[in-house]
Amino acid sequence: MKKPSVQIVRTKKDLRTQVTEWHMSGLKVGMVPTMGALHHGHLSLIREIQKHVDKVVVSIFVNPKQFGPNEDFDKYPRSETTDIIKLNEVKTDLLYAPDVGEIYPDGFLTIVSVAKITEGLCAAKRPGHFDGVTTVVTKLLLQCLPDVALFGEKDFQQYTVLKQMAKDLDIPTEVMCGKLIRDEDGLATSSRNIYLSAEERQIALEIPKTLKQIISEIEEGKLPLQEALDKGNQHLIDSGFKEVQYLEIRQSDDLEPLTQTFTETSPILARILVAAVVGKTRLIDNMPIKIYF
Ligand code: PAJ
Repeated sequence: MKKPSVQIVRTKKDLRTQVTEWHMSGLKVGMVPTMGALHHGHLSLIREIQKHVDKVVVSIFVNPKQFGPNEDFDKYPRSETTDIIKLNEVKTDLLYAPDVGEIYPDGFLTIVSVAKITEGLCAAKRPGHFDGVTTVVTKLLLQCLPDVALFGEKDFQQYTVLKQMAKDLDIPTEVMCGKLIRDEDGLATSSRNIYLSAEERQIALEIPKTLKQIISEIEEGKLPLQEALDKGNQHLIDSGFKEVQYLEIRQSDDLEPLTQTFTETSPILARILVAAVVGKTRLIDNMPIKIYF
């Protein structure tokens, strides 16, 4: 018997028609927005959301508005044929793969922008990036109107921004976070990892190792917080990173600098977040950390 394959739609009209039909039949719909070049991280989000909904929509759209002028929009990996094979392997119901004109028709003028959480961290070196993300995700969510949308912990600032955006704009979609997936060697899985040479990949592995080292130094009280961060930062530079764009600890829920109070028994639940450049490739990672001090 032929295996069912993912339904592919390229217009918001066809997307809406199918999702409305599912909703009319009482089915719950989930959405996983992506830019394609699908890997284990994306596939894990699809498997995760399948536990919460009856039908899953994956979108693939390389969004020009979230790339800066000197970033990799033109060379960003595009692989729809292999993406479709992977979507079939995890039994995705529908792929929404619009072209740029479907999302940004001539005369498009609107920008969706979230304040505060989009300052600092990734935003500092990527001006306008989050406005591009929030604008496209607002459009994707309104075009699809899913009950649930899942975003990866890998892009923790992006998830935090999108959760705030959906709440502030009364978008009727529950925004959830799916766990960060790593390759076997510990590097956070990313579509951009294919840019790394073998030597750069060895350097890249120092990111998760350094984060773990800092976490143990702080959680076990071996070093004061700032000293542990400074030491980690220097270690990354000594390992061969061209630049450490940020290495910071923020509160988990709102990504504000640490101001919450703690007690002996209930620590601050925080995040350590990093962005660093090896060769021409910018890598990000983050881990949870408990602060008792
Ligand atoms: P993209 O980088 O393709 O990622 C799509 C989703 O997969 C995001 O929610 C991202 O956080 C998640 N993801 C990527 N790598 C992951 C990993 N190793 N583990 C878990 N989740 C992972 O992020 C975007 O696209 C775009 O900004 C988008 C939200 C689609 C808007 O254009």
